[in-house]
Amino acid sequence: MTDRYAVIGNPLGHTKSPLIHGSFARATGQDLEYSAIEAPLDGFKAAVNAFRAAGGRGMNVTAPFKLQAFEIATELSERARLAGAVNAMKFDGERIAAENFDGVGLVNDIQRNLGFPLKGRRVLLLGAGGAARGALLPFLAQQPAELVIANRTSEKAQALATQFASFGTLRASGYANLAGHSFDIVVNATSASLRGELPPVRTEVFARGCLAYELAYGKGLTPFLRLAQGAGAAHLADGVGMLVEQAAEAFEWWRGVRPDTRAMIEQLTVPLA
Ligand code: ATR
Repeated sequence: MTDRYAVIGNPLGHTKSPLIHGSFARATGQDLEYSAIEAPLDGFKAAVNAFRAAGGRGMNVTAPFKLQAFEIATELSERARLAGAVNAMKFDGERIAAENFDGVGLVNDIQRNLGFPLKGRRVLLLGAGGAARGALLPFLAQQPAELVIANRTSEKAQALATQFASFGTLRASGYANLAGHSFDIVVNATSASLRGELPPVRTEVFARGCLAYELAYGKGLTPFLRLAQGAGAAHLADGVGMLVEQAAEAFEWWRGVRPDTRAMIEQLTVPLA
């Protein structure tokens, strides 16, 4: 019997999830159907329950429902608990197992696809919202030499640094305090690029040969990437690889087979320039 999966969010206009999972299913010979469910803003739980009742096996969760998914989960993985948000669910009877693969997708893209190991490197994470929070545990697991979280509202960065202190070495900073510091990997996890804005970061943070990574996907050369380019960053990347890698993690969690990601990343890549 064909197993059913779906992505749930609102709005879902340009979601790539059905394309990605459909392609993974064909490539691995898995008999599954993957659809997109745009639930009403006040109808997340009802839509999930209707999907489960109809035999649905799992869901990817996107904005604005990641916190509500956290609430309805009956089993949270450690990374979902620490991220405070859920991006994938697996259903089994009354059980709702919940995961968050965003951070591990980012780390896999940076290390495996882009070839920048995190271990022993100086890493700067811009932003202290949900996206930044999800990256912290997977980043710390790779043991960077230094992990700095910089945020416009420095108290939020400080709160994250305190919360994750037992998982590795990290510290919080305001943007102004970054003067004189440079990093091998700079990740923009703020939502600034969604509005064409630039986080107030200085060119000196980009070390020679560094990777500048924009979490937003398909926005071309954002102000952040443009700044990095001007500062001589060796490599510029957007979040397309992270998108595909987190999908691959969910697919493996659901189906027990790991799909190859390279062809899908190539297919979805929009040139930055
Ligand atoms: P997300 O879930 O995408 O992380 P969020 O939780 O709303 O979204 O967090 C947005 C992040 O982007 C925050 O860290 C925010 O900084 P503040 O905490 O100071 O608000 C950051 N952000 C948004 N616009 C920004 C801008 N123009 N410059 C710098 N940081 C910005």
